[in-house]
Amino acid sequence: MKRTLTNILVTGGAGFIGANFIHFLFNKTDFQGRIINLDALTYAGNLESLKDIDLKFGINTLGKTKAKYIFEYADITDKDAVNRIFKEYSIDTVVHFAAESHVDRSILGPEAFIKTNIIGTFNLLETARNFWKTSDSSIRQDVLFHHVSTDEVYGSLGETGYFEETTPYDPRSPYSSSKASSDHLVCSYSHTYELPITLSNCSNNYGPFQFPEKLIPLMILNILGGKPLPIYGDGKNVRDWLYVEDHNNAVWTIMNKGKIGEKYNIGGENEWQNIKLLEKLIDFVAKEINKDSAEIKKTIKWVQDRPGHDRRYAINCNKLKNELGWSQKYTFEEGLLATVKWYLSNPNWVANVQSGEYANWIKNNYENR
Ligand code: NAD
Ligand code: TYD
Repeated sequence: MKRTLTNILVTGGAGFIGANFIHFLFNKTDFQGRIINLDALTYAGNLESLKDIDLKFGINTLGKTKAKYIFEYADITDKDAVNRIFKEYSIDTVVHFAAESHVDRSILGPEAFIKTNIIGTFNLLETARNFWKTSDSSIRQDVLFHHVSTDEVYGSLGETGYFEETTPYDPRSPYSSSKASSDHLVCSYSHTYELPITLSNCSNNYGPFQFPEKLIPLMILNILGGKPLPIYGDGKNVRDWLYVEDHNNAVWTIMNKGKIGEKYNIGGENEWQNIKLLEKLIDFVAKEINKDSAEIKKTIKWVQDRPGHDRRYAINCNKLKNELGWSQKYTFEEGLLATVKWYLSNPNWVANVQSGEYANWIKNNYENR
């Protein structure tokens, strides 16, 4: 059955990948429908990342009935709010990005991860199941719930091998285990209730709008600020890096062409040891700011390892490439340079997410209404 893909609920659209997804849909595809961005604006959510979209497609420019982009300040664990949003906008598609997403934070405080990633996902699934029920109690099949997940659910690899879609789950951190739980819930709604779902497991993303707690933006900003560059353990942990637009292109491809009930791995086929990646990043930044890269490399600081630090992630994404015709468009050099340039040319965005001023702005504009 043809998918409607018209009134799309993007959860976590103010975060890194979600904001890039909304830009991608409006700027790089022929999408003609409407996006409802549901986000609780945690420390990781930033409406500034969507200012241009709001200006062009939002309520203030087009009015409520014609707006193609609408922001809803809500928490995915809030049943009443989610239910109201489904009804008010006749949601026919969900693309679920909202999550607590940082491993180090999950080690320090796992509770928020359980609430958002597990209970929040459950709440969205239940709302979708009820809202998409037909008069004979079956579920509409022109709708879609796409769940965005991570390769971290598969655990940790040794020096060889790849995560396949069939690799058994073996999550090691509170973050990855909460994502694994949400993946299982999503699959169970497909098997049990025939909720039309697709699921993707992606490797590490980088690009514009990423909160500077993750490796690449943290290092760029520490280099600019002359701060130490903290490398965990022996620096030889390996990650597979993908430019965020390539991830979103894959998500949109799966939403359009993916088989219902199936999961797809998404990856960069671009493995880097952390220390090698950092050295390359330093060279890129040094060139952009006319500094001596050897001097910057002296600021690398070896710090205590992350507890339970997964050694290596590597993705086999042949299913997505062969069955749906997706491939990466950006080389690592192109993506990294674009990312470095973005952080250099957006000091206001950086200052706001770092200063906490933005949190006050949310309080004044949303919480005190
Ligand atoms: P992020 O932390 O940058 O953004 C998360 C967004 O979700 C924020 O806007 C935040 O405000 C919102 N949010 C958090 N809790 C919420 C709640 N209870 N209700 C509503 N909104 C809430 O995350 P990201 O890096 O953009 O990741 C997006 C998704 O992609 C996540 O599901 C993550 O697991 C997955 N993923 C991320 C990567 C990566 O490298 N960043 C790789 C693979 C998969
Ligand atoms: P991160 O960006 O937190 O992503 P993830 O843990 O989800 O893969 O970290 C990427 C890698 O970089 C990971 O192996 C941990 C390491 N790392 C450091 O060495 N130093 C840092 O300051 C950070 C944030 C990460």
